[in-house]
This record gives sequence, structure tokens and C-alpha cells, in this order.
Amino acid sequence: MSGHKYDPSRADCLDSEERKRPEYIFSLLKVEEDDVILDLGAGTGFLTFPAAERAKRGKIYAVDVQEEMVKKLEERLEEHGAKNVEVLLSEETEIPLPDSEVNKTFMLNVLHELDDFSTLNEVHRVMKKNGGLLIVDWDKQKVTKNGPPSHVRLTKEEAVEILEEKDFKMIDTGSTQDHYWVIGER
Ligand SMILES: C[S@@+](CC[C@H](N)C(=O)[O-])C[C@H]1O[C@@H](n2cnc3c(N)ncnc32)[C@H](O)[C@@H]1O
Repeated sequence: MSGHKYDPSRADCLDSEERKRPEYIFSLLKVEEDDVILDLGAGTGFLTFPAAERAKRGKIYAVDVQEEMVKKLEERLEEHGAKNVEVLLSEETEIPLPDSEVNKTFMLNVLHELDDFSTLNEVHRVMKKNGGLLIVDWDKQKVTKNGPPSHVRLTKEEAVEILEEKDFKMIDTGSTQDHYWVIGER
């Protein structure tokens, strides 16, 4: 595994008060009651549990490649008690889900951590046709107080290019203070 995976000993920072509430994520890609969602690189579940409350009649797959993160997710799931969340350990370029399983995917601060963009082929495989993918990540073009070093980040334009290469249709893009976001359609 490469050296730029998020350090699980800093997991508390993922839930810090400084982080914006997930509402701004849902304002970009709305979660409906019966959505089946992949939260890829779910970390401690920053997005997983609010999404589970919105997709009451659906399901959230909280997937992460690091065992320590998966353990933390399982602990959080026990505390939260959500019945519609399933935690899964993935491989770098393999997601343990069948073809066309989910209709929405969120990748929040994950794209810059991928060792290999072929992980996005897997995202494409597990998504239903016309499903929506939202990527939000630290912008290489911005100088920020927090976040990963500039050399591991991507620009919004690079993210768009990668998604198009992986056969996602571009729906919308934008920027916040420190991040870019990109919405693609399967
Ligand atoms: C910076 S954390 C973000 C966690 C969460 N999305 C959030 O915003 O709070 C990035 C997470 O992506 C996971 N990750 C990195 N590469 C991955 C991959 N190929 N497949 C699944 N998870 C991955 C890391 O283990 C880490 O938990």
C-alpha cells in the first residue's frame, strides 16, 4: 500500500468540529429514501451515518481498504445502531460488491489516496446505469491550512479527465474554499 493513505491514528480529525457538516455534500448529490449507496473510502463514517438516516429504506455500503478504518467503522455502527449500513473491507482495486449494485457513490477525500485509478473501473462496475458519482477532494491549486501535501493532490481538471477516461459522463463540477467537486454519471 502506498505511503499516502490516511493515517488511522489521526481518525479523530475526520470527525472534528472544524469539518463542515455533510449537508453541503448532500446539496451536491441528493440522497433519496431508497438509494443504495457506496461510500468508498468511508474512513470513520463521516458521511456514512448521515447518509443512512436519509436513505431510510435503502442501504449504505461503507467500504474501506484499511483494516483499522473498518474496525472503527464497525464500532461506530454498533454505537449508531443503523440497520441499513454494511461495512466491507476492500482491496485497492477490488470492491466486494456485485455488478450494478448501487445507484449512488460518494468518494470524499479519497481520489488522491488511490494507488491506481483502475479502482474507478470497479466503481463503474458496481454502479447502475445512470447512477451518480460524487467526488470531493483537496484541490492541488489551493493553498490550505490542512489536508494532504500538494504533490499527492489533483486538480479538478485532472479529476474530470480521469472520470471521462473511465466512461463516466460529466454532469457538473465546482469548487469550495479548499476542495473541488465533480459529479459523474455512470
Ligand atoms: C482522508 S480519508 C477520508 C475518509 C472519509 N471519506 C471522510 O471524508 O471522512 C480517506 C479514506 O480512504 C480510504 N482509501 C484509500 N484508498 C482506498 C481504496 N482504494 N479503496 C477504498 N478505500 C480507500 C483510506 O483508507 C481512508 O480511510
